[in-house]
Amino acid sequence: MSTPSGEVKVPFLLFCFIQLLPTPLSVSSTTIALFVCTQSRTLNPPPLMASLHPLNGATTTAENPKSNPKPITPSELRSEFSHHDPTIARINNGSFGCCPATIIAAQQRHQLLFLRQPDHFYFNTLKPSIFQTRRIIQTLINADHVDEVSIVDNATTAAAVVLQHTTWSFFSSVFQAGDAVLILHYAYGAVKKSVQAYISRAGGHVIEVHLPFPVKSSSEIVSEFQKALQIGKSNGRKIRLAVIDHITSMPCVIIPVKELVKMCRDEGVDRIFIDGAHAIGNVEIDVKDIGADFYTSNLHKWLFCPPSAAFLYCKVSDEMSDLHHPVVSHEYGNGLAMESAWTGTRDYSAQLVLRR
Ligand SMILES: Cc1ncc(COP(=O)(O)O)c(C=O)c1O
Repeated sequence: MSTPSGEVKVPFLLFCFIQLLPTPLSVSSTTIALFVCTQSRTLNPPPLMASLHPLNGATTTAENPKSNPKPITPSELRSEFSHHDPTIARINNGSFGCCPATIIAAQQRHQLLFLRQPDHFYFNTLKPSIFQTRRIIQTLINADHVDEVSIVDNATTAAAVVLQHTTWSFFSSVFQAGDAVLILHYAYGAVKKSVQAYISRAGGHVIEVHLPFPVKSSSEIVSEFQKALQIGKSNGRKIRLAVIDHITSMPCVIIPVKELVKMCRDEGVDRIFIDGAHAIGNVEIDVKDIGADFYTSNLHKWLFCPPSAAFLYCKVSDEMSDLHHPVVSHEYGNGLAMESAWTGTRDYSAQLVLRR
Protein backbone atom coordinates (compact mmCIF):
# COMPACT_ATOMS: atom_id res chain seq x y z
CA MET A 1 0.00 0.00 0.00
CA SER A 2 1.33 3.43 -0.81
CA THR A 3 1.40 6.30 1.61
CA PRO A 4 1.65 9.85 0.31
CA SER A 5 5.37 9.27 -0.04
CA GLY A 6 4.72 6.21 -2.11
CA GLU A 7 5.94 3.77 0.52
CA VAL A 8 4.29 0.45 0.96
CA LYS A 9 3.53 -0.07 4.57
CA VAL A 10 0.50 -1.83 5.93
CA PRO A 11 0.82 -5.34 4.55
CA PHE A 12 4.27 -5.80 5.89
CA LEU A 13 3.33 -5.41 9.54
CA LEU A 14 0.85 -8.20 9.24
CA PHE A 15 3.26 -10.16 7.15
CA CYS A 16 5.87 -9.78 9.88
CA PHE A 17 3.34 -10.70 12.53
CA ILE A 18 2.52 -14.01 10.95
CA GLN A 19 6.20 -14.64 10.41
CA LEU A 20 6.68 -14.25 14.15
CA LEU A 21 4.24 -17.05 14.89
CA PRO A 22 5.54 -20.56 15.39
CA THR A 23 5.53 -22.87 12.38
CA PRO A 24 3.31 -24.74 11.94
CA LEU A 25 0.92 -22.14 13.26
CA SER A 26 -1.32 -23.33 15.98
CA VAL A 27 -4.15 -20.82 15.75
CA SER A 28 -6.90 -20.33 13.20
CA SER A 29 -5.88 -17.94 10.45
CA THR A 30 -9.26 -16.35 10.93
CA THR A 31 -8.14 -15.28 14.37
CA ILE A 32 -4.90 -13.68 13.29
CA ALA A 33 -5.25 -10.28 14.76
CA LEU A 34 -5.12 -6.80 13.42
CA PHE A 35 -4.16 -5.72 16.92
CA VAL A 36 -0.66 -6.20 15.65
CA CYS A 37 -1.26 -3.01 13.74
CA THR A 38 -1.04 -1.12 16.99
CA GLN A 39 2.39 -2.48 17.75
CA SER A 40 5.10 0.13 17.44
CA ARG A 41 7.96 -2.23 16.63
CA THR A 42 10.16 -1.52 13.65
CA LEU A 43 10.07 -4.62 11.54
CA ASN A 44 11.76 -5.69 8.38
CA PRO A 45 9.90 -5.09 5.11
CA PRO A 46 7.83 -7.80 3.46
CA PRO A 47 8.51 -9.41 0.14
CA LEU A 48 5.10 -8.37 -1.15
CA MET A 49 2.94 -5.33 -1.29
CA ALA A 50 -0.07 -3.63 -2.79
CA SER A 51 0.53 -0.13 -3.98
CA LEU A 52 -1.22 2.64 -5.77
CA HIS A 53 -1.34 3.69 -9.38
CA PRO A 54 -0.53 7.35 -10.02
CA LEU A 55 -4.16 7.55 -11.08
CA ASN A 56 -5.02 6.75 -7.51
CA GLY A 57 -3.39 9.83 -6.12
CA ALA A 58 -0.04 8.44 -5.09
CA THR A 59 2.58 11.14 -5.36
CA THR A 60 5.27 8.57 -6.08
CA THR A 61 5.08 4.93 -6.92
CA ALA A 62 7.11 1.90 -5.93
CA GLU A 63 8.90 0.83 -9.11
CA ASN A 64 9.67 -2.68 -8.07
CA PRO A 65 6.97 -4.70 -6.30
CA LYS A 66 9.68 -6.36 -4.25
CA SER A 67 11.42 -3.11 -3.23
CA ASN A 68 11.88 -2.25 0.43
CA PRO A 69 9.23 -0.07 2.04
CA LYS A 70 9.61 1.84 5.31
CA PRO A 71 7.56 0.74 8.30
CA ILE A 72 4.22 2.43 8.88
CA THR A 73 3.74 4.29 12.13
CA PRO A 74 1.02 3.29 14.62
CA SER A 75 -0.87 6.58 14.07
CA GLU A 76 -0.82 6.14 10.27
CA LEU A 77 -2.06 2.64 10.78
CA ARG A 78 -4.91 3.76 13.02
CA SER A 79 -5.87 6.37 10.48
CA GLU A 80 -5.84 3.81 7.63
CA PHE A 81 -8.36 1.70 9.53
CA SER A 82 -10.37 4.46 11.21
CA HIS A 83 -13.45 3.30 9.27
CA HIS A 84 -13.51 0.09 11.33
CA ASP A 85 -16.20 -0.14 14.00
CA PRO A 86 -14.39 1.28 17.03
CA THR A 87 -16.48 -0.79 19.43
CA ILE A 88 -15.23 -4.07 18.00
CA ALA A 89 -11.71 -5.45 18.35
CA ARG A 90 -11.35 -6.76 14.80
CA ILE A 91 -9.28 -9.86 15.21
CA ASN A 92 -10.56 -11.68 12.16
CA ASN A 93 -8.69 -10.56 9.07
CA GLY A 94 -8.50 -14.06 7.67
CA SER A 95 -12.12 -14.49 6.65
CA PHE A 96 -12.77 -11.41 4.56
CA GLY A 97 -9.65 -9.27 4.86
CA CYS A 98 -9.82 -5.54 5.52
CA CYS A 99 -8.98 -2.58 3.38
CA PRO A 100 -6.94 0.52 4.29
CA ALA A 101 -8.45 3.96 3.64
CA THR A 102 -6.00 4.95 0.88
CA ILE A 103 -6.79 1.75 -1.01
CA ILE A 104 -10.53 2.34 -0.65
CA ALA A 105 -9.97 5.85 -2.06
CA ALA A 106 -8.03 4.34 -4.95
CA GLN A 107 -10.78 1.88 -5.66
CA GLN A 108 -13.34 4.66 -5.69
CA ARG A 109 -11.32 6.55 -8.30
CA HIS A 110 -11.45 3.51 -10.55
CA GLN A 111 -15.18 3.15 -9.96
CA LEU A 112 -15.74 6.78 -10.92
CA LEU A 113 -13.56 6.41 -13.99
CA PHE A 114 -15.84 3.59 -15.10
CA LEU A 115 -19.03 5.47 -14.34
CA ARG A 116 -17.75 8.65 -16.00
CA GLN A 117 -17.45 7.01 -19.41
CA PRO A 118 -18.30 3.29 -19.30
CA ASP A 119 -17.62 2.62 -22.99
CA HIS A 120 -14.18 4.16 -22.84
CA PHE A 121 -13.42 2.33 -19.60
CA TYR A 122 -14.58 -1.06 -20.90
CA PHE A 123 -13.06 -0.84 -24.34
CA ASN A 124 -9.84 1.09 -23.65
CA THR A 125 -8.93 1.00 -19.97
CA LEU A 126 -10.05 -2.26 -18.42
CA LYS A 127 -7.99 -4.79 -20.37
CA PRO A 128 -4.63 -2.97 -20.10
CA SER A 129 -5.28 -2.24 -16.44
CA ILE A 130 -5.98 -5.89 -15.60
CA PHE A 131 -2.93 -6.80 -17.67
CA GLN A 132 -0.82 -4.59 -15.39
CA THR A 133 -2.22 -6.33 -12.33
CA ARG A 134 -1.35 -9.69 -13.89
CA ARG A 135 2.19 -8.50 -14.62
CA ILE A 136 2.70 -7.46 -11.00
CA ILE A 137 1.41 -10.80 -9.74
CA GLN A 138 3.62 -12.59 -12.26
CA THR A 139 6.65 -10.87 -10.72
CA LEU A 140 5.52 -11.46 -7.15
CA ILE A 141 4.99 -15.18 -7.61
CA ASN A 142 7.86 -15.76 -10.06
CA ALA A 143 5.70 -17.10 -12.87
CA ASP A 144 7.37 -17.61 -16.24
CA HIS A 145 4.73 -15.89 -18.29
CA VAL A 146 1.97 -13.37 -17.75
CA ASP A 147 -0.44 -15.72 -19.57
CA GLU A 148 -0.11 -18.07 -16.62
CA VAL A 149 -1.78 -15.49 -14.38
CA SER A 150 -5.52 -14.80 -14.36
CA ILE A 151 -7.34 -12.42 -12.06
CA VAL A 152 -10.56 -13.82 -10.64
CA ASP A 153 -12.91 -12.76 -7.88
CA ASN A 154 -11.75 -15.03 -5.10
CA ALA A 155 -10.20 -18.37 -4.23
CA THR A 156 -13.61 -20.03 -4.47
CA THR A 157 -13.87 -18.99 -8.13
CA ALA A 158 -10.32 -20.22 -8.76
CA ALA A 159 -11.26 -23.59 -7.26
CA ALA A 160 -14.30 -23.71 -9.55
CA VAL A 161 -12.10 -23.15 -12.61
CA VAL A 162 -9.78 -26.00 -11.66
CA LEU A 163 -12.52 -28.40 -10.53
CA GLN A 164 -14.69 -27.71 -13.58
CA HIS A 165 -11.68 -28.54 -15.74
CA THR A 166 -11.24 -31.82 -13.81
CA THR A 167 -14.94 -32.61 -14.21
CA TRP A 168 -14.60 -32.35 -17.98
CA SER A 169 -11.76 -34.88 -17.83
CA PHE A 170 -14.22 -37.29 -16.20
CA PHE A 171 -16.96 -36.51 -18.71
CA SER A 172 -14.63 -36.95 -21.69
CA SER A 173 -13.30 -40.26 -20.27
CA VAL A 174 -9.76 -38.97 -19.86
CA PHE A 175 -10.42 -39.83 -16.19
CA GLN A 176 -12.51 -42.86 -15.21
CA ALA A 177 -15.29 -43.12 -12.64
CA GLY A 178 -13.66 -44.05 -9.34
CA ASP A 179 -10.45 -42.13 -10.03
CA ALA A 180 -9.62 -40.01 -7.03
CA VAL A 181 -9.15 -36.43 -5.94
CA LEU A 182 -7.16 -35.96 -2.78
CA ILE A 183 -7.82 -33.11 -0.35
CA LEU A 184 -6.73 -32.26 3.17
CA HIS A 185 -9.18 -32.87 5.99
CA TYR A 186 -8.40 -29.25 6.93
CA ALA A 187 -9.39 -27.98 3.47
CA TYR A 188 -11.62 -24.91 3.49
CA GLY A 189 -15.32 -25.79 3.76
CA ALA A 190 -16.38 -24.09 0.53
CA VAL A 191 -13.60 -25.84 -1.38
CA LYS A 192 -14.67 -29.20 0.06
CA LYS A 193 -18.23 -28.47 -1.08
CA SER A 194 -16.89 -27.53 -4.52
CA VAL A 195 -15.08 -30.86 -4.70
CA GLN A 196 -18.37 -32.54 -3.79
CA ALA A 197 -20.29 -30.52 -6.39
CA TYR A 198 -17.86 -31.01 -9.26
CA ILE A 199 -15.92 -34.22 -8.58
CA SER A 200 -18.32 -36.49 -6.69
CA ARG A 201 -21.10 -35.70 -9.15
CA ALA A 202 -18.80 -36.58 -12.04
CA GLY A 203 -18.09 -40.01 -10.51
CA GLY A 204 -14.79 -39.16 -8.85
CA HIS A 205 -13.77 -40.55 -5.49
CA VAL A 206 -12.58 -38.16 -2.77
CA ILE A 207 -9.73 -39.08 -0.43
CA GLU A 208 -9.26 -36.90 2.66
CA VAL A 209 -5.82 -36.67 4.23
CA HIS A 210 -6.33 -36.71 7.98
CA LEU A 211 -3.97 -34.47 9.87
CA PRO A 212 -3.43 -34.54 13.62
CA PHE A 213 -4.56 -31.72 15.89
CA PRO A 214 -2.59 -29.91 17.03
CA VAL A 215 -0.06 -30.34 14.26
CA LYS A 216 3.36 -30.39 15.88
CA SER A 217 5.72 -30.66 12.94
CA SER A 218 5.94 -30.60 9.17
CA SER A 219 7.06 -34.22 9.19
CA GLU A 220 3.68 -35.26 10.65
CA ILE A 221 1.97 -33.62 7.68
CA VAL A 222 4.35 -35.22 5.18
CA SER A 223 3.87 -38.65 6.71
CA GLU A 224 0.04 -38.44 6.82
CA PHE A 225 0.03 -37.26 3.22
CA GLN A 226 2.26 -40.14 2.16
CA LYS A 227 -0.07 -42.58 3.94
CA ALA A 228 -3.13 -41.19 2.15
CA LEU A 229 -1.40 -41.48 -1.23
CA GLN A 230 -0.48 -45.10 -0.47
CA ILE A 231 -4.01 -45.97 0.69
CA GLY A 232 -5.39 -44.42 -2.49
CA LYS A 233 -3.00 -46.41 -4.65
CA SER A 234 -3.45 -49.69 -2.74
CA ASN A 235 -7.13 -49.52 -3.58
CA GLY A 236 -6.08 -49.43 -7.21
CA ARG A 237 -7.22 -45.87 -7.71
CA LYS A 238 -5.52 -43.32 -9.89
CA ILE A 239 -5.14 -40.01 -8.09
CA ARG A 240 -5.97 -37.40 -10.68
CA LEU A 241 -5.90 -34.21 -8.66
CA ALA A 242 -4.47 -33.18 -5.29
CA VAL A 243 -5.89 -30.05 -3.67
CA ILE A 244 -3.42 -28.83 -1.08
CA ASP A 245 -3.80 -25.74 1.12
CA HIS A 246 -0.71 -23.57 1.56
CA ILE A 247 -1.99 -22.14 4.85
CA THR A 248 -5.02 -23.97 6.21
CA SER A 249 -7.88 -21.93 7.52
CA MET A 250 -8.83 -23.83 10.65
CA PRO A 251 -6.55 -24.62 12.34
CA CYS A 252 -3.95 -22.31 10.86
CA VAL A 253 -1.06 -24.46 9.70
CA ILE A 254 1.57 -23.68 7.09
CA ILE A 255 1.71 -26.76 4.90
CA PRO A 256 5.05 -27.83 3.36
CA VAL A 257 3.61 -27.54 -0.14
CA LYS A 258 6.86 -27.99 -2.04
CA GLU A 259 7.51 -31.34 -0.39
CA LEU A 260 3.94 -32.52 -0.92
CA VAL A 261 3.99 -31.47 -4.58
CA LYS A 262 7.19 -33.44 -5.11
CA MET A 263 5.64 -36.47 -3.43
CA CYS A 264 2.58 -36.18 -5.71
CA ARG A 265 4.82 -35.98 -8.78
CA ASP A 266 6.80 -39.05 -7.64
CA GLU A 267 3.53 -40.94 -7.14
CA GLY A 268 2.15 -39.96 -10.54
CA VAL A 269 -0.67 -37.64 -9.42
CA ASP A 270 -1.85 -35.97 -12.63
CA ARG A 271 -2.57 -32.43 -11.42
CA ILE A 272 -1.88 -30.42 -8.30
CA PHE A 273 -3.81 -27.37 -7.16
CA ILE A 274 -2.52 -25.28 -4.26
CA ASP A 275 -5.16 -23.32 -2.38
CA GLY A 276 -3.03 -20.49 -1.06
CA ALA A 277 -6.01 -18.27 -0.17
CA HIS A 278 -4.09 -16.87 2.83
CA ALA A 279 -0.62 -16.96 1.32
CA ILE A 280 0.12 -13.80 -0.65
CA GLY A 281 1.33 -11.15 1.78
CA ASN A 282 1.97 -13.81 4.41
CA VAL A 283 4.57 -16.10 2.92
CA GLU A 284 6.82 -15.95 -0.12
CA ILE A 285 5.23 -17.61 -3.13
CA ASP A 286 7.48 -18.98 -5.83
CA VAL A 287 5.27 -20.98 -8.15
CA LYS A 288 8.19 -22.39 -10.12
CA ASP A 289 9.88 -23.59 -6.96
CA ILE A 290 6.64 -25.06 -5.58
CA GLY A 291 6.00 -26.79 -8.88
CA ALA A 292 2.21 -27.20 -8.78
CA ASP A 293 -0.02 -26.93 -11.87
CA PHE A 294 -2.39 -24.43 -10.28
CA TYR A 295 -1.99 -21.93 -7.45
CA THR A 296 -4.51 -19.42 -6.16
CA SER A 297 -4.34 -16.72 -3.53
CA ASN A 298 -6.75 -14.02 -2.45
CA LEU A 299 -5.49 -10.47 -2.87
CA HIS A 300 -8.17 -9.22 -0.46
CA LYS A 301 -6.84 -11.03 2.59
CA TRP A 302 -3.19 -10.35 3.48
CA LEU A 303 -2.35 -8.13 0.50
CA PHE A 304 -5.06 -5.70 1.63
CA CYS A 305 -6.77 -5.19 -1.70
CA PRO A 306 -10.48 -4.42 -1.54
CA PRO A 307 -12.85 -7.37 -1.81
CA SER A 308 -12.84 -9.13 -4.00
CA ALA A 309 -9.78 -10.12 -6.00
CA ALA A 310 -7.59 -13.18 -6.33
CA PHE A 311 -5.14 -14.61 -8.79
CA LEU A 312 -5.10 -18.05 -10.33
CA TYR A 313 -1.78 -19.27 -11.67
CA CYS A 314 -1.99 -22.08 -14.23
CA LYS A 315 1.28 -23.55 -15.43
CA VAL A 316 1.55 -23.64 -19.21
CA SER A 317 0.64 -27.07 -20.57
CA ASP A 318 -1.25 -28.57 -23.50
CA GLU A 319 -4.38 -29.08 -21.43
CA MET A 320 -4.48 -25.51 -20.26
CA SER A 321 -6.21 -24.30 -23.39
CA ASP A 322 -9.23 -26.16 -22.04
CA LEU A 323 -9.38 -24.14 -18.83
CA HIS A 324 -12.38 -21.84 -18.72
CA HIS A 325 -13.96 -19.35 -16.38
CA PRO A 326 -17.27 -20.72 -15.06
CA VAL A 327 -18.99 -17.49 -16.16
CA VAL A 328 -18.92 -17.46 -19.94
CA SER A 329 -18.86 -14.10 -21.73
CA HIS A 330 -17.46 -12.42 -24.84
CA GLU A 331 -13.87 -13.58 -24.30
CA TYR A 332 -14.76 -17.29 -24.29
CA GLY A 333 -12.05 -19.27 -26.05
CA ASN A 334 -9.45 -16.52 -25.77
CA GLY A 335 -7.62 -18.09 -22.83
CA LEU A 336 -8.48 -18.14 -19.15
CA ALA A 337 -6.79 -14.82 -18.40
CA MET A 338 -8.85 -13.01 -21.05
CA GLU A 339 -12.06 -14.84 -20.14
CA SER A 340 -11.55 -13.86 -16.48
CA ALA A 341 -10.96 -10.22 -17.41
CA TRP A 342 -14.48 -9.90 -18.79
CA THR A 343 -17.19 -11.86 -17.05
CA GLY A 344 -20.01 -9.49 -17.93
CA THR A 345 -20.85 -6.02 -16.69
CA ARG A 346 -19.64 -5.61 -13.15
CA ASP A 347 -17.35 -3.60 -10.89
CA TYR A 348 -13.73 -4.54 -11.65
CA SER A 349 -12.19 -1.81 -9.48
CA ALA A 350 -10.90 -4.19 -6.77
CA GLN A 351 -8.68 -5.79 -9.41
CA LEU A 352 -7.11 -2.49 -10.43
CA VAL A 353 -5.64 -1.03 -7.24
CA LEU A 354 -2.52 -3.17 -7.34
CA ARG A 355 0.10 -1.08 -9.07
CA ARG A 356 3.85 -0.78 -9.25
C1 LIG B 1 -8.02 -21.91 2.69
C2 LIG B 1 -9.11 -21.11 2.07
N1 LIG B 1 -9.48 -21.39 0.81
C3 LIG B 1 -10.44 -20.69 0.18
C4 LIG B 1 -11.09 -19.66 0.81
C5 LIG B 1 -12.17 -18.94 0.08
O1 LIG B 1 -11.89 -17.59 -0.06
P1 LIG B 1 -12.99 -16.67 -0.75
O2 LIG B 1 -14.19 -16.72 0.17
O3 LIG B 1 -12.39 -15.32 -0.81
O4 LIG B 1 -13.30 -17.26 -2.07
C6 LIG B 1 -10.76 -19.33 2.14
C7 LIG B 1 -11.44 -18.25 2.84
O5 LIG B 1 -11.14 -17.89 3.95
C8 LIG B 1 -9.75 -20.09 2.78
O6 LIG B 1 -9.40 -19.84 4.04
